Amino acid sequence: MIKKYLTALDTIPVCKRHGKVLQNKGMVIEATCPDTYIGEICEVHAKFSSQNIVAEVVAVNKNKVLLMPYQRIKGVSQGSIVYATGKMAVAKVGDNLLGRVVDAFGNPIDSKGELCSYTEYPLYKEPINPLTRKAITEPISTGIRAIDSFITIGRGQRMGLFAGSGVGKSTLLAAICHNISEDVNVIALIGERGREVEEFVQAIAETGMMEKTVVISATAEQPPLIRVHAVYTAMAIAEYFSEQGKNVLFTFDSVTRFAMALRELGLSTGEPPTVKGYTPSVFSEIPAIIERCGSFRQRGAISAIFSVLVEGEDFNDPVADCVRAILDGHVVLTRELAERAHYPAIDVLKSTSRLFRQINSAAHIQNVASVKRAIVQYQENRELMELGVAGGDPGRLLSISNRWLQIEDFLLQDTRSIESLVAGQTRLATITASWQESASV
Ligand SMILES: Nc1ncnc2c1ncn2[C@@H]1O[C@H](COP(=O)(O)OP(=O)(O)OP(=O)(O)O)[C@@H](O)[C@H]1O
Ligand SMILES: [Mg+2]
Repeated sequence: MIKKYLTALDTIPVCKRHGKVLQNKGMVIEATCPDTYIGEICEVHAKFSSQNIVAEVVAVNKNKVLLMPYQRIKGVSQGSIVYATGKMAVAKVGDNLLGRVVDAFGNPIDSKGELCSYTEYPLYKEPINPLTRKAITEPISTGIRAIDSFITIGRGQRMGLFAGSGVGKSTLLAAICHNISEDVNVIALIGERGREVEEFVQAIAETGMMEKTVVISATAEQPPLIRVHAVYTAMAIAEYFSEQGKNVLFTFDSVTRFAMALRELGLSTGEPPTVKGYTPSVFSEIPAIIERCGSFRQRGAISAIFSVLVEGEDFNDPVADCVRAILDGHVVLTRELAERAHYPAIDVLKSTSRLFRQINSAAHIQNVASVKRAIVQYQENRELMELGVAGGDPGRLLSISNRWLQIEDFLLQDTRSIESLVAGQTRLATITASWQESASV
């Protein structure tokens, strides 16, 4: 009998470092707690709540520390006791995560039960040695013809998906996740609406792709630190599978909401605001995440697609600018195409993949160039054709219009009708070959 109590006693730390809550400033709790360090997890004993509030040290001052809670701080009062745990936040990783939807720490939220086994990974990592990277030489298939043919993504490439709100970023990302060619798909849904997470997961489940997918979700109403942690957890999970030799596709929706969470965090810990209120740490954290993706010598590649909200179609938004500078290409969706129900609303002339020439055959590069010329020709003559203005060469206008119809038919794609990269590129080759034949007749 007494053994039970002795064992329980062993689990209690002899002397817990502790302090008291001084005040709260917005989301942040100011407290005294000696020898705590940045990133350490503390527990706040709230007077009017049976549950302790878990919080993380985000800044240390002379005599006080700033704590950012993981949940709402109702019940915390002046003088509430703060205990330091001596632990840092970790992410749960493991093969069991496949097919699961987890929270910002890798805990399942999909009512399929707890994870039976897992390893704990640190959330933050040192930068990767650039010499461990490998050249990108092969393409991956996203199943979306406009991307696979015009903006081909390489294995280990980091791409951005830029668009205004409601233009189709999430829908396109979900469509890509319907039929991925990579071994594992890690999806980070950051700051989304709860309904969208459910729809995203449901759509993937219907295609049978869930068994090689892990979804990490932190919705808009969760505290900023949770939204930020979810990104690092997603990254840790992607790295875990990459270290097992698996090629990973990392899909991230959206970087802008991650930046907003970082901004909230930065402002509440006293960082100075810069352009649009974004704090300096935003512009160091985003590149740090993007740089953890790529093609590596000793492990599987992490190819990545980051969605970026371009507010008010302002393509010079500071977050968009910061992301674009370090990515290896961008897919641009335009409202103009979406308004014409041209889905996916990808503007293939404005989009670019910096590795396009390295990973495609010379014949395909030529085919794409001639299709792009045909699109420009159509755009230059569109008004003439729409107005039915006489004066142009009717035969030439008809040929431009016919070519455009073929291109449009190629670019339009239902989210459920996926086509492999090879099938898409072959189809494009057939289209351009038919133009050469008609020109030589
Ligand atoms: N490929 C598509 N096919 C048909 N409809 C689409 C497609 N893409 C987007 N839509 C329409 O546009 C709406 C908004 O799309 P979506 O939620 O993907 O945009 P978003 O860019 O992610 O928006 P937000 O900026 O709010 O996150 C969808 O609900 C749908 O009606
Ligand atoms: Mg969206």
